[in-house]
Amino acid sequence: MALEVYDAFGDWKRARQGADPTAHVAFVPTMGALHRGHADLIRRAQQEVGPSGHVVVSIYVNPTQFNDAADFEAYPNTREVDLRMAESAGADAVVFPQPHELYPGGVPQRVPPVDYGGLTALWEAAHRPGHFDGVVAVVRALFRQVEPNRAYFGEKDWQQLAVVSELVRREFPDLTIVPVPTRREEDGLAMSSRNVRLDERERGGASMLHAALKAVAAATETVTEVRRQSSLLEQAGWSVEYLAVVDSVTLDTHWELGRELRAIGAAHFGGVRFIDNVPVPN
Ligand code: PAJ
Repeated sequence: MALEVYDAFGDWKRARQGADPTAHVAFVPTMGALHRGHADLIRRAQQEVGPSGHVVVSIYVNPTQFNDAADFEAYPNTREVDLRMAESAGADAVVFPQPHELYPGGVPQRVPPVDYGGLTALWEAAHRPGHFDGVVAVVRALFRQVEPNRAYFGEKDWQQLAVVSELVRREFPDLTIVPVPTRREEDGLAMSSRNVRLDERERGGASMLHAALKAVAAATETVTEVRRQSSLLEQAGWSVEYLAVVDSVTLDTHWELGRELRAIGAAHFGGVRFIDNVPVPN
């Protein structure tokens, strides 16, 4: 079946009116500039809903989650490539929502603050004020439009996955969130829509953050290794925002025995901010 493309949720919903109401809807929200990481989410969605299901991808660069206006302005837009990528990964439909469908009163300068404890206070939340408020606002609005059975999120943005899981626990009890592992380049760099902005030197050094996280995750003396890897990064010209081993659900650095742990990090190199995370073997 050919890919269906809609420039509003209204059009997508009209087209779905005749659809089998028992068919499962699998949803992959994105901001476009799709790469193989996004394709993994779409492929996974396709596999899980099967031939009778419907895989819908949204592409919307959400202004309210950008705490840096220049980052928003520079966000890549690759509509035609995105459509080809979504289709070959197995999407049934791609929707480019109209802003008023997500923000009926117009796109606000600020959205209401969200308090999910540490999830919306630590790490990314501390370094990107307002970011998760915008993510929650748009993801909630997207879920209300699509009413999916399952929604797919990348582990690449570990804290986003945790925040969205909490939103779903509180407000969308029938929705299943499916986490999908991070797709990486051969040297370990996590794929990201922003990677196209890297110059040669930045691209050359970019995989160091992943290497540092792997070293931290493998160490028995976590605190010592975090210190060692941070100074290695700084010596190589990085500026580290945070590097830590945390409880994978609460993101707290104080964890109890038997909890799943995650090594997480964010750092600047050249003009670019990178985030990444890896599981800590138990
Ligand atoms: P975006 O950055 O486009 O990412 C869309 C989804 O793809 C997210 O769930 C993200 O975690 C996942 N993803 C990105 N890079 C990945 C990689 N290398 N491997 C696997 N998955 C990857 O995240 C957003 O958009 C937005 O915040 C959004 C949820 C759409 C709300 O605006």
